[in-house]
Amino acid sequence: MKQTKEKDITAYSKEDLELTEEVLQKLLLWYQSARRDLPWRKTKDPYCIWISEIMLQQTRVEAVKEYYHRFLKVLPTVSHLAEASEETVLKLWEGLGYYSRARNLKKAAQQIISEHNGEFPRNFDAIRKLSGIGDYTAGSISSIAFDLPTPAVDGNVLRVMSRVLNDFSDITLTKTKKDMTALLSLVYPQKQCGDVTQSLMELGAMVCIPNGQPKCEECPLTDCCRAKQEGTVEQLPVKTEKAKRKTQKKTVFLLQCGEEYALRKRTEKGLLSGMWELPNCEGIFTEKQIASLFSNVLLAEKIGSYRHIFTHIEWEMECYRIIIAEKLPDYVWETEATIKEKYALPAAFRPFWEKR
Ligand code: ADE
Repeated sequence: MKQTKEKDITAYSKEDLELTEEVLQKLLLWYQSARRDLPWRKTKDPYCIWISEIMLQQTRVEAVKEYYHRFLKVLPTVSHLAEASEETVLKLWEGLGYYSRARNLKKAAQQIISEHNGEFPRNFDAIRKLSGIGDYTAGSISSIAFDLPTPAVDGNVLRVMSRVLNDFSDITLTKTKKDMTALLSLVYPQKQCGDVTQSLMELGAMVCIPNGQPKCEECPLTDCCRAKQEGTVEQLPVKTEKAKRKTQKKTVFLLQCGEEYALRKRTEKGLLSGMWELPNCEGIFTEKQIASLFSNVLLAEKIGSYRHIFTHIEWEMECYRIIIAEKLPDYVWETEATIKEKYALPAAFRPFWEKR
């Protein structure tokens, strides 16, 4: 690495460029036999690839498979997605988290109908303008679906490339990501670009792994990896520490009246915006405080505690089953069957719902 403050590709030397070219060739060869047989790798349909790429953000491959099949069965085309109700899309997304991803999918499908005559756009810039699509996803869809030489640089690719290049740039900086994108763009081949993109992802997922010891003995790049040669594999990538997550305490109520349960819609701003939730309040309440919240109580019992971790915050929750004799007007009341069929309940509330 050159020590320079200049922009973009000038951050890298000619040797870096040559090494990166060699790396992509080696990865492509390796990928032909090492690739996992994943459902979204059996298609070139940009719609399917788009859905998979959005689901794969922040979510493990194994967890995505079932969601991917179910989503495409119910909404097999862009038009189906554009015309689906938000509740339908959220229900298909239930449990995957980061629900704005699902809302943006629907918005983008409507954009494709109104701005692209229903046909999925075929170039990076047009794809990048769709709702919910950033540089990484535009790069991955363009390369995987259309074989365009557009790299998709995320934390996994930055980890692999930091090690190969023995690059001590802080990978949390936008500049590092831009420089790496520029470097890869220069050496992307003109063919099999989707395989090149996925070979980088595959190495990051299976060999040059994020947590724990990288499997250097299995790595197709072991002969050309500078970090391996320098003994710096474990120091890389360089990442500045994220701020510590805040903890919020909550008391949650599985509130029941006859055969029906109470649900409440969250506000349109902030965490889990617009999602349905079990009634809850800030802080851990004592049984006495809880008794004063409800009248006509037939049963009140604690059913469990659970901690749910979001990206920036965690909820420490205690939950009570409260059975009341008369419905309270502040909530939507529905039967178990209707909730199962129509409402998407975020994973944070699931452990309590399962105890109904
Ligand atoms: N993560 C993001 N995109 C992926 C893909 N196409 N295959 C496997 N893991 C991925």
